[in-house]
Amino acid sequence: MTKKLAPSILDVDFAHLEREIKKIENGGADLLHLDIMDGNFVPNISFGPRIVESIKSITSLPLEVHLMVEKPENHIKSFINAGGDIIIVHYETSKHLDRLIQNINEAGVKSGIALNPATTLSVIEYLINKIDILLLMTVNPGFGGQKFIPEMIAKIEKARKIIDNQKKSISLAVDGGINLDNIYQVVKAGAEIIVVGQIISKSSNPEMTTKKIKNLLNQK
Ligand code: DX5
Ligand code: ZN
Repeated sequence: MTKKLAPSILDVDFAHLEREIKKIENGGADLLHLDIMDGNFVPNISFGPRIVESIKSITSLPLEVHLMVEKPENHIKSFINAGGDIIIVHYETSKHLDRLIQNINEAGVKSGIALNPATTLSVIEYLINKIDILLLMTVNPGFGGQKFIPEMIAKIEKARKIIDNQKKSISLAVDGGINLDNIYQVVKAGAEIIVVGQIISKSSNPEMTTKKIKNLLNQK
């Protein structure tokens, strides 16, 4: 199973967004992870579709849009129009998740569901075969640079088993607090798309750090 590295731009220097994205791109990232926060579902506010559109114009990396917003149904279209290639919605934000996933799929982009650390895997039982990505939050969403929640290793292992039992191929993504000390454990537990934020954006050489993590993932 090839592992994919999906750096988040949440904590990069936004005054030099293009320059910072190029470093990530040159380092060999597979996807760009875009954290959309509304100050409502999560306490933080990040950026919206106009920024996503600008990012789309300067990178060839697929854009993975992680929507941490209330009423995601009101925003799906604008993020798809802005160039999102993968739209991930939180289970906790939608009363009609099946309809929402159907709408994303019908728009011709990839769909994903994210689960907060406290949300059980059983909630996606009837949806798993309709999505392309299951994203497990390994911190409580809202901020970069938080501590990985160790109990999530068992959840990743459990999700891996569920996914392996499906006929459809579904990618297992993990997001939050991943660093060089726990990345091996996370991959061993079955994660396939690794989202990383500050480990790259706050490093002294983001390009080299991206390369280093990418190589590490390829070795596993
Ligand atoms: C947290 C975001 C993450 C975050 C990851 O709410 O969804 O994508 O930016 O950042 P680190 O790796 O710094 O925890
Ligand atoms: Zn994220």
